[in-house]
Amino acid sequence: MSSDKVGLQQEIDQRKKDGLFRQRQVMNSAQGPLIKIEHETFINFSSNDYLGFANNENLKACLIDAVSKYGIGAGSSQLLTGHLSPHKTLEGKLAQFLNRDAALVFPTGYQANLAIASALINSKTVVLQDKLNHASLIDAALLSRGRLVRYRHNDIEHLKTLMEKYKHQELIIMTDGVFSMGGDCARLIEMSHLCKTYNAILIVDDAHGIGVLGETGAGLLEELNLNQQQVPLLVGTFGKSFGAAGAFVSGSKLHVEMFIQKARTYIYTTALLPAIAATMIKAIDLIKEGNNLRKNIKNLIVQYRGLIKEYGLNSSESFSHIQPLIVGEPNKALALSKALYKKKILVMAIRPPTVPKDTSRLRISITATHTEEQIKTLVYEINKANSIV
Ligand SMILES: Cc1ncc(COP(=O)(O)O)c(C=O)c1O
Repeated sequence: MSSDKVGLQQEIDQRKKDGLFRQRQVMNSAQGPLIKIEHETFINFSSNDYLGFANNENLKACLIDAVSKYGIGAGSSQLLTGHLSPHKTLEGKLAQFLNRDAALVFPTGYQANLAIASALINSKTVVLQDKLNHASLIDAALLSRGRLVRYRHNDIEHLKTLMEKYKHQELIIMTDGVFSMGGDCARLIEMSHLCKTYNAILIVDDAHGIGVLGETGAGLLEELNLNQQQVPLLVGTFGKSFGAAGAFVSGSKLHVEMFIQKARTYIYTTALLPAIAATMIKAIDLIKEGNNLRKNIKNLIVQYRGLIKEYGLNSSESFSHIQPLIVGEPNKALALSKALYKKKILVMAIRPPTVPKDTSRLRISITATHTEEQIKTLVYEINKANSIV
């Protein structure tokens, strides 16, 4: 379609017809298990605030204190005057928490993934990626000088075939840890074995796993007992379990040095707000102490999956806090989401291109702050809505 006014309007109209039109809702309260839209309260199952930190009193106090010390902005890129003491302390603390040599913080996860690609990928690199990776990983490879090749979701045999095919080139594998829209986990142990065999670098973006998985909340790598040698680069974000916004990459000192030297989305951007950096130092402590929160999430997942099965609804492969209810057609996902909205339950419909064609879904996000009663209400109302849409 053309990009003149008529063409743009046609494209918008087509999107509406196909159930693919995206709309924003204005939230009128802080994130939490309950959220306000205008003056009405909804049970919120669409947030990535998995541990309830976005509105945590300790963290809010920490942020206010840090703003009074460091102001509201970093003033420039990290390479000019924007590298403040909270950034440095946070990097050290992240490295320690994740059992890695070093870490580097970014204003967003999207930039962190682009940074890795711009610094490490050259024209001889083949970047192998899971088909269901987050858009920021895919875009990182597409915007690089390397060649992007995608393997079928979690299909280790397919990955192996492709590694064999491209074994004479530099190989980089990039994957989500916990998949953002499916909630299932990458098969990292097998992938790390393959990477050893083929001398490839494994890069894991565990934005959704860190905070929730692992004994101390260090994520999927901790759960699977994988170290820095096996997974040289680990990405995480502050926008999910940490409750704020921002991100980090962690790995060897050499890798971090290379990103500081070369990564365009690190160099040519204003630094993460220093007050957020200061607050994230405290958030790491709260994550480590968060065993009860993680236990609560686990119990609610078991309850949710049990109820879904009891009602004979379509359960998924996911055993994590991200539970997709796949319905197929975008219009059906929208109708289901709207029916729940009428019952004051907020579950957004996720449609292509965020997920593949014919796999439109409700993405249910189970957090530590939900209650058993709320899960019961959710599944009861899904079941009712499902029979009428
Ligand atoms: C797996 C994954 N990586 C990266 C990002 C991007 O992070 P940010 O929101 O900090 O840009 C997201 C989602 O936001 C994500 O789900």
